Amino acid sequence: MRTLFSAVLLGPFAAAAQSPTPTWSADIACIVYTHCASCHREGGAGHFPLTSFTEAFPYRNDIRDATQLRLMPPWPPDEDYRSLAHERLLTTEEVDLIAAWVNGGAPEGDPNLAPPPPAFESDWVIAQPDITARMEEYVVPPSSNDNYRCFVLPINNPVDRYITGFEVVPGNTAVVHHVLVFTDETGQAAQLDAGDPEPGYASFGGIGVSGAKLVGEWVPGAEPYFTPPGMGLPLPANADLVIQVHYPAGSTFALDSTRVNLQLSPGGFVREMALDPVLDHGPTLIDGPLVIPPGVVKTFHNQYTVPLPATITAIGPHAHLLCTRMKAFAVLPGNDTVPLIDIPEWDFRWQGLYAFRRPIHLPVGTVLHGEATYDNTTNNPDNPNDPPQWVTLGEATTDEMMLFYFGWTYGFPADTLIVVDTAAHAAHHLDCTPSTVLGLEEAAGMPALTAYPVPAEDVVHLTGLAAPGALELLDAAGRMHGRWTVAGASLTLEADHLPAGVYTAILRDRQGSPVQRARVLKR
Ligand code: HEC
Repeated sequence: MRTLFSAVLLGPFAAAAQSPTPTWSADIACIVYTHCASCHREGGAGHFPLTSFTEAFPYRNDIRDATQLRLMPPWPPDEDYRSLAHERLLTTEEVDLIAAWVNGGAPEGDPNLAPPPPAFESDWVIAQPDITARMEEYVVPPSSNDNYRCFVLPINNPVDRYITGFEVVPGNTAVVHHVLVFTDETGQAAQLDAGDPEPGYASFGGIGVSGAKLVGEWVPGAEPYFTPPGMGLPLPANADLVIQVHYPAGSTFALDSTRVNLQLSPGGFVREMALDPVLDHGPTLIDGPLVIPPGVVKTFHNQYTVPLPATITAIGPHAHLLCTRMKAFAVLPGNDTVPLIDIPEWDFRWQGLYAFRRPIHLPVGTVLHGEATYDNTTNNPDNPNDPPQWVTLGEATTDEMMLFYFGWTYGFPADTLIVVDTAAHAAHHLDCTPSTVLGLEEAAGMPALTAYPVPAEDVVHLTGLAAPGALELLDAAGRMHGRWTVAGASLTLEADHLPAGVYTAILRDRQGSPVQRARVLKR
């Protein structure tokens, strides 16, 4: 019975009939440390740590279910519509491997094979920020309502600079729900702050300052944002940094002191960027106003014709609780459609600013399109009203919004050559790779090739290589120790730097499929 079950779950590995149960140490720790531990650690956004076998074991069933359902790691955009920079995704092999591990009893295996757990020395990713500013300590007063509070962070910056990276470090991850970061050149925010005896000031709707400019946003789990090379967001001389923090209802008496770290351009020519809600619920809404009657599911559209050559670098959709889907695309002057983002199951708690893998150039006349669907029926579990009520445009979480922020700059066609992130899959923690994913098991049934001498000392000769491609050398835990291009039928590898042990050499053809293997013994 169990064989049948694991054969189904193992998917691509089913062919290796006696494939042993994956273990935490050889297979799973690498996946979890790479894809989960950044949030699931002491002080992280995930509520329980996953930085050791002992911590993970009690959660094994939840880990299996959350990964099978693709709820974890959280990544709301549909990667098939558009693949975005720094995607948090597991491969099918990794999801299957986790399931096989849990269904096989979640064994630890040999602890010596496990990669060392990730070390988080600081909560900061920008280790040496040019500017770091922290709000005064604030105690959230008792209230049954959402609390949106603005804090002015004095930064004493005497000259015009450009922001190239920013990071929000929430003071209290249990209650900080959403942070918007603005620059204010007008001094109005400081005046509003001075007029309120408590730290900061209440602001229901923006930060109450016309002329303030959004430079960043943060939600739980959000990573720091960096502008593409050569571009920056303006930080005018003597501007204040203003953060608006959303503390949800129930945060009563929680203490918070959130910090913002900025990385600035060292100087030289910087292309000025802006972060603007180009598609909005105002002039660009073509079937507004944004009014959603009770009991109704309704889709709205916005549209904007780009008046100058532009390059877009990031997109940040924003709506509230009734929203169930947000999607945006561009139609170029030649009528080609460029998908931008599709969030098929909108979740108010997971909104972010998503960077494109490469900037996207939009010639004059490109039409940007946005779509958002709102479900104001009792079928929507997030509907704040029971029974449903009329919902209109507004700042409260129980009102609605429809915005697509764009990071953009004056554009040149060659901007599409700038690389932000082209990696298909996050690089693994310390280069560890689950042994089963890399194919030690699949290699078991493949034609052998000859490796000598046995054992090897300073070199290994391989003969009988069947195809042009690449040769990978893996240790018993599946970690790669080298990769060589194969052109002819034989190959000599330098081995003097290799630790003693048993290795598997796998030849992959040009498509990446494994075709041959050899066992290498190193003294
Ligand atoms: C970007 C941050 C982040 C990453 C990365 C992440 N998690 Fe989570 N995880 C959370 C948060 C926050 C919660 C709390 C529930 C929520 O708010 O949705 C959570 C909840 C969970 C839960 C509880 C069950 C549930 O679905 O609510 C499990 C299990 C879980 N995570 C496992 C994982 C695993 C396994 C990985 C890696 C494959 C992972 N998480 C990666 C942030 C993260």
